[in-house]
Amino acid sequence: MKEKVFIRKAVLCVAGLLLLLAPLSLRAQYAAFAVVSDSHVGAPGSVYAEFIRNIEEEGTRMIVHTGDAINSPGSLSQWAQFFDITGTDKTLYLAPGNHDINGQKSLDVYLGFFGVPYSSTSDGDTLLVFLNTELPGEESRIADEQLAWLSAELAKPFRYKLVFLHEPLFPVIRHHGLDRYAQERDNLHLLFVRSGVSLVVAGHDHVYDRSLRDGVTYVIGGRAGGKVWPTNNGRSTCYITAKRTGDFYSFEVKDVNGKVKDAFAVKRGAQQKSAEGRENNRRTTASLGRLSLRD
Ligand SMILES: [Fe+2]
Repeated sequence: MKEKVFIRKAVLCVAGLLLLLAPLSLRAQYAAFAVVSDSHVGAPGSVYAEFIRNIEEEGTRMIVHTGDAINSPGSLSQWAQFFDITGTDKTLYLAPGNHDINGQKSLDVYLGFFGVPYSSTSDGDTLLVFLNTELPGEESRIADEQLAWLSAELAKPFRYKLVFLHEPLFPVIRHHGLDRYAQERDNLHLLFVRSGVSLVVAGHDHVYDRSLRDGVTYVIGGRAGGKVWPTNNGRSTCYITAKRTGDFYSFEVKDVNGKVKDAFAVKRGAQQKSAEGRENNRRTTASLGRLSLRD
């Protein structure tokens, strides 16, 4: 009889321990990641190596790059340099930019390295989608096969959906992104809203910007290299760290010295809350709207 009681207690103890550990193990599966934009490796002034050093020191091993990894489309030596700086100990996801792909020849080079023009991955309850705004004949658009693929991806029942692409839907510099095709851009935004996308990060503008539209947080991720446009708002050179904190994804925007310049959090779909800096929800660059650049 005593033996039976002991066994029952032991089973209860093990079950209790498993219950206690379950939330920890669930949380532990979420990899922290860093988002880097526009490194333009091969051009003067790239601070990609410095960013990667900071990211390594922070213990992060997953890099999401929102395009213009290299400076000269199709350059094998620049791709080699980019991969060398990134390091083989990390997982890299890239949403290519117009300096990575500029026509069929450089697309072929890109596909030689990455295999597919656009992709997705998942981590627990989170879907991460990496789009391609530079497909030959479909520049500055998400159209045709890619749009059909994206719609199917976003229809999947993930709690969090994070989208990365090079050209912004709502660029700081007017007509410098998907806003070239305003109706298609609006439809894409509606797809994001209806699908419960929490966050969309782009590059291309070489400035940092954050806005909240219909529950979707849109970020333009600054630069790790390339030209400094007149739009520079003092926060252009930065990278973003991301981690899952309980029920939120929390983000910190850091300069080359690792100093935090902005911080925000996103929650699922339309329930997002900005952790701070609600003033950033408004467009801050209306006066720059007349500029039109392509880089
Ligand atoms: Fe760029």
